[in-house]
Amino acid sequence: MIALGVNIDHVATLRQARRGVCPDIIAAAKICEMAGAHQITVHLRKDRRHIQDKDVHALKETLLVNMNLEMAAEDEIIGIAQSIQPYTVCLVPEKREEITTEGGLDVAGQVVRLTEVVQTMHAKGIRVSMFIDPEPGQVEASVKSGADAVELHTGAYANAIGAKADRELSRLWDCAEMVADTSMELHAGHGLTVRNLLPVARMPFLHEVNIGHDIMARALFIGLDAAVKEILGVLRDVEMAFD
Ligand code: PXP
Repeated sequence: MIALGVNIDHVATLRQARRGVCPDIIAAAKICEMAGAHQITVHLRKDRRHIQDKDVHALKETLLVNMNLEMAAEDEIIGIAQSIQPYTVCLVPEKREEITTEGGLDVAGQVVRLTEVVQTMHAKGIRVSMFIDPEPGQVEASVKSGADAVELHTGAYANAIGAKADRELSRLWDCAEMVADTSMELHAGHGLTVRNLLPVARMPFLHEVNIGHDIMARALFIGLDAAVKEILGVLRDVEMAFD
């Protein structure tokens, strides 16, 4: 079955609105875990706008499932990842003024530097995923860097409608087929929802999706346990269709 990573950054965003302790992100992570999520994803941003260093430490201590740490390939955060040793780090571009991660990482434009980062992480037993736009050049560069996985940025697909959404979907599928010919795992994420997930989840050799905003938004109305299970239901439907 395709693995579900639940991104819990938005729980921390709500907590940071009051700089207090509620809502408790460990409680949120545990509900996701008990609902069947395969992984918890958090983004430790340089500006610490939501997830804090103490959260990453606490999650590492308490999670039973894997932790996927999204991060910029910058020295301070690399140092934190080396000491915490999450299961995977997902390298993302980061701009201070953006609301959320906007584009994919330009791996092709910095292969030498990112290859060093991959080696640094591998030396600590940490797997590396590159968050890239669905472009063949970025897939090729990710292979060169020695990354273990690529996470295809599904934001353009999620934001498009009609024929444009179909075009974005076929860009994703083309890259998925390229990734299938490499030793890298295929992941996908950004803007995925219970409504738009199915066509992406049908991509060949998809191993993992990371979903945050839609799960947390729906959790407000139907509860976190139900919101996670809804997504798992879509992934299970895909698995059954392949059986
Ligand atoms: N994957 C990556 C690399 C991301 O940066 C994000 C957003 O933090 C997500 C997945 C989840 O995106 P969304 O919150 O839109 O589901």
